[in-house]
Amino acid sequence: MVLGKGTVMFFNRKKEKAQIDMSRLPEHIGVIMDGNGRWAKKRGLPRSAGHKAGADSLKKIVTACNKLGIKYITVYAFSTENWSRPKDEVDYLMGLLLGYLKDAENTLAGENVVIRAIGSRAELSEEIQEQIIKTENFTSKNTGIVMNIALNYGSREEITHAVRNICRDVESGSLKAEDISQEMISSELYTGGQPDPDLLIRTSGEIRLSNFMLWQLAYSEMYFTNKLWPDFTVKDLEDAIIEFQKRNRRFGGV
Ligand code: IPE
Ligand code: IPE
Ligand code: MG
Repeated sequence: MVLGKGTVMFFNRKKEKAQIDMSRLPEHIGVIMDGNGRWAKKRGLPRSAGHKAGADSLKKIVTACNKLGIKYITVYAFSTENWSRPKDEVDYLMGLLLGYLKDAENTLAGENVVIRAIGSRAELSEEIQEQIIKTENFTSKNTGIVMNIALNYGSREEITHAVRNICRDVESGSLKAEDISQEMISSELYTGGQPDPDLLIRTSGEIRLSNFMLWQLAYSEMYFTNKLWPDFTVKDLEDAIIEFQKRNRRFGGV
């Protein structure tokens, strides 16, 4: 059949409507959930309203990742630098995170999600520390996506913590400095035993890492979008994965 050039192109374009290739999914996605404050400001609302909307957005994205078959997601919820925010905002965020962890026992747990917190726990309230343990235990037998909630997380703190642990073995004489390997450092990070993220998503238009997974992101594909985190939809997630699948990952090879 002879078709006009334009028709064929139209046909092709329709047929080739971008779709996720389910055989090449990223195994691990990292997310810097940024832009909650600006989302609220645009609506004349307090920053807390943006954080609340961001938490709802997170639930939808994790559920969608799990349904797709993504194995790990690490979400940046509170950085070691975020303590420098006004006390009322920090308090609100801590309350929201506590509520999120509690609520996860009813919602995300039922979705077969395994929840883990990564970051330094000592600075968190006892109530949050206890809730982390409860939620982790409650979801530990699930078999779906592993969700790492980065909470009082900073990559430099994480690496310092790992180096300290390794140095203890050197000090005790059970390890020689020259035997320290990259694998050993990886396994001492809070994400020890997990694969590095294949894809990093950051919302809100900022093009920086803000102390997130500096070691683990060595060869991750980066996806930056202007969408503010509370506006980030499942369709946006799919777009990010489709873009990831167009990238040619070379890992230093050809
Ligand atoms: C991200 O949103 C959430 C946290 C850092 C806890 P922000 O609060 O940073 O929002 P913006 O960047 O001010 O818009
Ligand atoms: C990174 O966002 C931390 C989280 C998303 C939790 P920030 O808003 O704190 O980062 P900067 O200050 O813009 O670099
Ligand atoms: Mg921000």
